[in-house]
Amino acid sequence: MTKRVIVLTIVIIGLLGGLGFVLYNQFFFGRGDGQELGRLGEIKKRGEIIIGTDATYPPMESRDEQGNFSGMDIDIAREIASDLGVRAKFKNIIWEEIFNAAKNGETDMIISAITITKERTETLAFSDPYFNAGQVIVSAKDKKGIISGPKDLKEYRVGVQVGTTSEEEARKYTGNPSLVNTYENYDLAKEDLLQGKIDAIIIDYPAAVGMVAGEEKLQIAGEIFTQEFYGIAIQKDQPALLSQINKSIRRLKQAGELRRIEEKWLGQ
Ligand code: ARG
Repeated sequence: MTKRVIVLTIVIIGLLGGLGFVLYNQFFFGRGDGQELGRLGEIKKRGEIIIGTDATYPPMESRDEQGNFSGMDIDIAREIASDLGVRAKFKNIIWEEIFNAAKNGETDMIISAITITKERTETLAFSDPYFNAGQVIVSAKDKKGIISGPKDLKEYRVGVQVGTTSEEEARKYTGNPSLVNTYENYDLAKEDLLQGKIDAIIIDYPAAVGMVAGEEKLQIAGEIFTQEFYGIAIQKDQPALLSQINKSIRRLKQAGELRRIEEKWLGQ
């Protein structure tokens, strides 16, 4: 064989190898430029994950006067961003619009004390559960002994945030739909409760603790009466992003880090 033939053979092998590599990537990943990661690829490229939350739900999520976000969900979201190696950018979104903001891509994920429900999983993908919450009643202390469980609510005016699982419970237990008062957020419901315009509020337990904290006149009435699990929601069909989020949740659970975050915000 002449030198020329040898060189040519090497070049051809090289070209075939390159072509094979490109085809392989095409086949397995659609394209070789990060496209296979979908939304996760975009997040990494951007260097930032956009997180939607309705920050009116302390100690899960709230904002101070300067607009800084804080809470248990905020800490969890920050851990996820840091595992991804990107910045966490929080966006305040009212509850009524939060699911759409995840669906239409305005946010990459939403974390907002969101109960995983069958209905919601039809249009969004949920992470593994990260918290077991349940609902309770908040009422004025002068209703002590009168309202001590959901069955006592039949004749009372009940306030809830519109579109929450609490609204569903309120409709179940009140005797008349006109007794259910829906609000854009729980701050508004609380105002009405303090003014005696409603008799009770149904709300998740952690947020109930937040609501009665430092309030002379309010109390948690009775026991937790539902079992619900919080999850992080993202667009459907984003397996790469979902599995990264679940990886972070698993890490936080295993390392006892989730416990630590819970204790920081909710106490023992
Ligand atoms: N867990 C309830 C639900 O998913 C209420 C959540 C309200 N969250 C909030 N950040 N306001 O329907």
